Amino acid sequence: MDTTTTQHNGALRQLSDLPGPAGLPFLGNALQLRPRSVHADVEAMARRYGALFRLRVGRQQALVVADAALVGAILRDRPDGFRRPDVTAQVSDEMGGERGVFLAEGAAWRKQRKMVMQAFAPHAIKAYFPLLARVGKRLQARWEAAAREGRPIALNADLKRYTVDVVAGLALGEEVNTIEHGDDVVQQQLELIMEGTARRSLLPVPYWRYVKLPFDRRLEAAVAALRTATDGFIAKARQRMRDDPARAAHPQNMLEAMLAAADQEGSSIDHGAVVGNVSTMLLAGEDTTSSALAWLAWLLARHPQALRRAQEEVRRVAPDADAFTIEQMDQLEYIDACAHEAMRLKPPAPFIPLQANQDCVVGDVQLPKDSIVWCVLRHDSVSESKLRDAAAFDPQRWLDGGPARQLAMPFGAGPRLCPGRYLSLLEIKVAMACLLGRFDLLSVEGDSAEYHGFVMSPGALTMRLSPAAG
Ligand code: HEM
Repeated sequence: MDTTTTQHNGALRQLSDLPGPAGLPFLGNALQLRPRSVHADVEAMARRYGALFRLRVGRQQALVVADAALVGAILRDRPDGFRRPDVTAQVSDEMGGERGVFLAEGAAWRKQRKMVMQAFAPHAIKAYFPLLARVGKRLQARWEAAAREGRPIALNADLKRYTVDVVAGLALGEEVNTIEHGDDVVQQQLELIMEGTARRSLLPVPYWRYVKLPFDRRLEAAVAALRTATDGFIAKARQRMRDDPARAAHPQNMLEAMLAAADQEGSSIDHGAVVGNVSTMLLAGEDTTSSALAWLAWLLARHPQALRRAQEEVRRVAPDADAFTIEQMDQLEYIDACAHEAMRLKPPAPFIPLQANQDCVVGDVQLPKDSIVWCVLRHDSVSESKLRDAAAFDPQRWLDGGPARQLAMPFGAGPRLCPGRYLSLLEIKVAMACLLGRFDLLSVEGDSAEYHGFVMSPGALTMRLSPAAG
């Protein structure tokens, strides 16, 4: 036994001793896990079988862990104790993707993480802020027209345009401007890649190894096209940095920051790793933040008191999108609390699947090397036994201190904690300041069921605004 995630002095259990839903021969529990609601299916099982139970999909056994303290301990025990499941990297490799920091492991992960973190350093984020504010203003202008004309706004689609424009601007150094010009080719490729990755990661049989359906051919073409586009963006960024060597010390976007970090002596980061991390940023930064924003708007529309307080804060601290500063955004404490509370109830990433690097003990369960460990992030964080009024949307709990911070882990935990968390909170604040500073939020209606694709998002929502009174 090499890894002991928690100290346990009593008798140890084997996976087969644990409770869990009965499965079918060969398929195991595959049919009880519906791809679009896999998060909710596993959460319902945790309520029934407890915070440690077993699952089987095909021949693969899994330990499900829903206890927040144990989940935290597992997430912190990386990269040595646990890795992302092999299937995730296999799915990406088979599509022809390069492994970025999300998929890298061991020493390769350490090197890449160091490079990526330089792109998220505070001075770097400060340099990106003008782009973020510019994209926010475009979103505000788009909503201005809809508010004046009393037109409904397709909320999810508009928020995706916003996050694509921000993240593509930062990751590629190119302003794609889908807010004003509609979907662009990079976005269409990303959508297909996200759908394909989500679909293939959960299928018990990798049929595409034997037969390629039209969807698989489109998917592989999208990965190849994104690769070609990314090579072009990297070549352009390198040229800009040659023309203006000061950019290495003061990168204007993530791509320049990563190239500068890759070029440092001893970094041993190759071109493929930069390519892999550009796609990683695009994929990790789009739907996560837009989903968090959509849920937040939906929740605020249902909580008039919180909405009034959020609106009051924005109009006092950052009323004018033409004059936004990063310092103003840092002062939007109530909006920050609202964002965390929304992610507690509606986490864009409600689970993190991992795989054990060696024989280990999790809680009181003995696990063989290579076992899948499915970490449920929304269980204790919404449990009445752990948190007062757990089902209520109460942003104040984040300002008062208390257990929410230990129980909710929307960005994961430990050494692989999401490096984009500060950037995404900044994006959320800019979008909320653009929304609440200029408009009254009349309603957010539509399909508020939870759907799991690449992340967990609501169905199509429609927002109605009116120009702010006064
Ligand atoms: C609300 C928005 C976001 C949420 C909820 C979110 C959530 C997460 C979660 C749960 C993880 C896994 C952490 C772990 O394994 O412990 C993760 C990893 C990651 N996220 Fe985010 N994320 C968000 C936004 C972003 C943005 C905007 C970017 C970049 C532009 C980003 C880049 C990454 C990367 C590169 C990783 C992999 C880190 C590693 O494996 O070392 N994320 N994120």
